[in-house]
Amino acid sequence: MRNTSLTRRGLLGGAVALTALSACDPAPDPGTSAPRPNLADVPPLDPKDWGSVRAQFALDPAVAHFAAFVFASSPASVRNAITIHRTGFDHNPVEYLHANEARYGEAIRMAAAGYLGVRTDEICFTNSTTMGLGLVYNGLKLKPGDEILTTEHDFYSTHESLRFRTERDGVKVNRVRLYADPATASVDEIVGNLVKALTPATKVVAITWVHSGTGVKLPVRQIADAVAGRALVCLDSVHGFGAQDAGPDQLGVDFLVSGCHKWLFGPRGTGIIWGKPSAWAQLTPVIPSFDFFNSPNPPHSASPGGYHAYEHEWALSEAFAFHRAIGRDRIAARIHELNGRLKEGLAGTKSIRLITPRSADLSAGIVCLDAGGRNPTMLVNGQLKAAGISASVTPYSPPYVRLGASIVTSEAEVDKAIEACRKL
Ligand SMILES: Cc1ncc(COP(=O)(O)O)c(C=O)c1O
Repeated sequence: MRNTSLTRRGLLGGAVALTALSACDPAPDPGTSAPRPNLADVPPLDPKDWGSVRAQFALDPAVAHFAAFVFASSPASVRNAITIHRTGFDHNPVEYLHANEARYGEAIRMAAAGYLGVRTDEICFTNSTTMGLGLVYNGLKLKPGDEILTTEHDFYSTHESLRFRTERDGVKVNRVRLYADPATASVDEIVGNLVKALTPATKVVAITWVHSGTGVKLPVRQIADAVAGRALVCLDSVHGFGAQDAGPDQLGVDFLVSGCHKWLFGPRGTGIIWGKPSAWAQLTPVIPSFDFFNSPNPPHSASPGGYHAYEHEWALSEAFAFHRAIGRDRIAARIHELNGRLKEGLAGTKSIRLITPRSADLSAGIVCLDAGGRNPTMLVNGQLKAAGISASVTPYSPPYVRLGASIVTSEAEVDKAIEACRKL
């Protein structure tokens, strides 16, 4: 069982714990003679140098990785932490757990809260965005007759979680189309369509920060302001988290749900839910949380309990530390710059139709395109792959070719992708 001390819960998270708890230091000795692993042989990070940032990853250098955000490769500090913890667990799992769970459980809370600028007791850990969405949409306290408003543009995980909710207790889910053409979408069109679709019974608005089918980034703050006082706003934030420079304060939402294994390049199988205290009060956890143990005053924890892949979960602090060392603002600016360059290069190509808006206000790191109606799967697995470009296909109808320049991408690789797309 977890016996995480809750005494420091509620502190505003900061970077304090990160230096002290850096996984580059050997993990605390669990009282056994656990062998120490070899750490990845990577030069130290110079956060001001994008080449040095890229060098922290073990990604195949022969490939230009424009789908790295789909499922993360992690930087050396994260890989090292995973290796250290895994070695400890393999050597003596129970001792390693008991010797370290309080320390590392607290460290990841502090790291996540510091990154988001929120209190540590407002955060839960999951294994993915999908798990977080399932827990939130199936846990919210709703009465017969209450409605949820979602959109046509959300990922399967939102739509399925809401469908389960309807099946379970009949909650009505309405869907609205926010924009007619993603390329020319505007803030007024998006906010106007959403507000028009609210009914007096709407208690929850379920939206997605950056649409993975079109690359449109929603004006989340404007939506939250327009909905304020009428409904809770829940955000699938996975394609903004780690890619945009905004936390709950700037976004104004009630729940923010994300995986940490996309743009954050955190350990695979990790995720997060942040909620306002008033929003947590409106949710009944779906899976019992082990965070409640030893707590006289249970926090609003919906972190699913059961023993976890702690070697991955505890390495999360390193992912947050990596991003904070580079700077959330610098990462967002870099992603806008590279994807802006990509869109500019593609915009002049006759055979390519850009689906994603050009404006940085309405887009983030995802660039979707149509190449004269040709089959995107064939293009991604054929011509683009042969040109050394790793891209993806949007899992929506209609499907598009999807490219995402990120912190592991260089200007030269963007130009290479433009060249390859021009030849499609
Ligand atoms: C918008 C969106 N939400 C959620 C997911 C699923 O993320 P996770 O693997 O963290 O559940 C995806 C794609 O994988 C996505 O595009």
